[in-house]
Amino acid sequence: MTFKVRLQPSGMEFHASPEETVLDAALRQGVVLPYGCRNGVCGSCKGRRIAGRIDYGRFDTALLNTTLSEAEQQAGFMLLCQAHAAGDLVIEARTVNAACGIQPRILPCRVARLERLSEDVMRVQLKLPATERLQFLAGQYIDFLLPEGRRRSFSIANAPHADEFIELHIKHVEGGRFTGDVFSGLREKALLRLEGPLGNFYLRKDSTRPVIFIAGGTGFGPIKGMIEHALAEGVTRPMHLYWSARSERDLYLDHLPRAWQAQHRHVRYTPVLSQPQAHWPGKTGYAAAAVMEDFPDLSGHEVYASGPPAMVRDAQASLLKQGLALENFYSDPFEFNEKPAP
Ligand SMILES: Cc1cc2nc3c(=O)[nH]c(=O)nc-3n(C[C@H](O)[C@H](O)[C@H](O)COP(=O)(O)OP(=O)(O)OC[C@H]3O[C@@H](n4cnc5c(N)ncnc54)[C@H](O)[C@@H]3O)c2cc1C
Ligand code: FES
Repeated sequence: MTFKVRLQPSGMEFHASPEETVLDAALRQGVVLPYGCRNGVCGSCKGRRIAGRIDYGRFDTALLNTTLSEAEQQAGFMLLCQAHAAGDLVIEARTVNAACGIQPRILPCRVARLERLSEDVMRVQLKLPATERLQFLAGQYIDFLLPEGRRRSFSIANAPHADEFIELHIKHVEGGRFTGDVFSGLREKALLRLEGPLGNFYLRKDSTRPVIFIAGGTGFGPIKGMIEHALAEGVTRPMHLYWSARSERDLYLDHLPRAWQAQHRHVRYTPVLSQPQAHWPGKTGYAAAAVMEDFPDLSGHEVYASGPPAMVRDAQASLLKQGLALENFYSDPFEFNEKPAP
C-alpha cells in the first residue's frame, strides 16, 4: 500500500509507503528536500501538513516536542525525517532543485571502515556524528580539510538514499602525502574533517536522452553512486557504462556493473583495458575509442565522464567530433594540483 504525497508550492508528487519516512520516500524517488540529521534533532526537514494524516511510529514524543514547539505543531509543522504517511498527503515544503541548492558544510567524521579493493584502491567508509547526515546529489565530492590549509578531494561513491556511511574509493598516488597515509598510517576510528557536498557532477533529471558513462580507474566511484541512485529511483533511460583501467585486477568492483547489467535490461557495461593480459576477450585501448566504435552518432546522447583529467579531456574532444553536443557532456576530472585553502 502506498500513499500519494504532493508538495506545495512546487506541485511535485511522489509515493510513500507507511513503512518509510516521508523524507526517505522523497529521496528514493529523486525529490530532494532539505534535511540535516535524519534523527529528528536538527529541525532542518520541517514541513507543514496542509492535508492528510501522518504517524510518528516509535519516534520519541519528548524529542518531537523539543524539536518542534507546541505552536509549530499546532500550525501543522512536522518532521519529514520521522513522519510516515497514514493517508494521501499535501505538504508545504521547499525542494532543492540542483546541486547548487545544497549548501556545503564543514563536518567532523570518523573512519568507520577501511577495505582494500585492489593493490592500490582503498574503500574508505566515513561516519558522521550521530546527529548529522550529509545531504548530497549522487556524483558530488567532498574535500578533506587537512593541516596547514591543505585540501584533498574525493568523490562520493555511494548514493544519497543509502547514506549511513560516506563511501570513497581512494587510489594510492605514488609519493602522495594524503593517499600515502590512507594506505599506511590511517586507522579505523581516526577523526577527520570534511567539507561537502561540492561540484556539479550529477545526473540531469530533466532529460530522457540515453546516457553514456565513462569512468577511468577510481572515476568509477561517483558513477557507481549515480547508477545506484538512478536504479533505486526507477530511471529507465538506457545507461551504458564504459570502465577503463589498465588490467582486469584494476576493475576493483567489476561484479557490481555486471550485476546491474544482468538485472536491468536498460543497463550495459563494457570494461576497457589498456594493458590486458593475452586471454582478455573484451575491449582494449581507450574508453573514448570504444564508445566511438559502438556509437557512430552521439547527437542524441548525454555523456558523463570522470577520472584522470587526460582521459576526460580526450573523451570530450573525441566525442564532440562524433556528434555529441557540448552541453550534453558533463565531467568530473580528478585534477590534482595542490589547492590553497579558500
Ligand atoms: C573533484 C575531484 C574528485 C576526486 N575524486 C577522487 C576519487 O574519488 N578517488 C581518487 O582516488 N582520487 C580522486 N581525486 C584525485 C585526488 O584528489 C588526488 O589523487 C589526491 O588529492 C592526491 O593527494 P595526495 O596528497 O596523496 O598527493 P600529493 O601529495 O598532493 O601529490 C603527490 C604527487 O602526485 C601527483 N598526483 C596527485 N594526485 C594524482 C593523481 N590522482 N594522479 C596522478 N598524479 C597525482 C602530484 O601532482 C604530486 O606530484 C579527485 C580529485 C578531484 C579534483
Ligand atoms: S530533524 Fe534533522 S533532518 Fe529531520
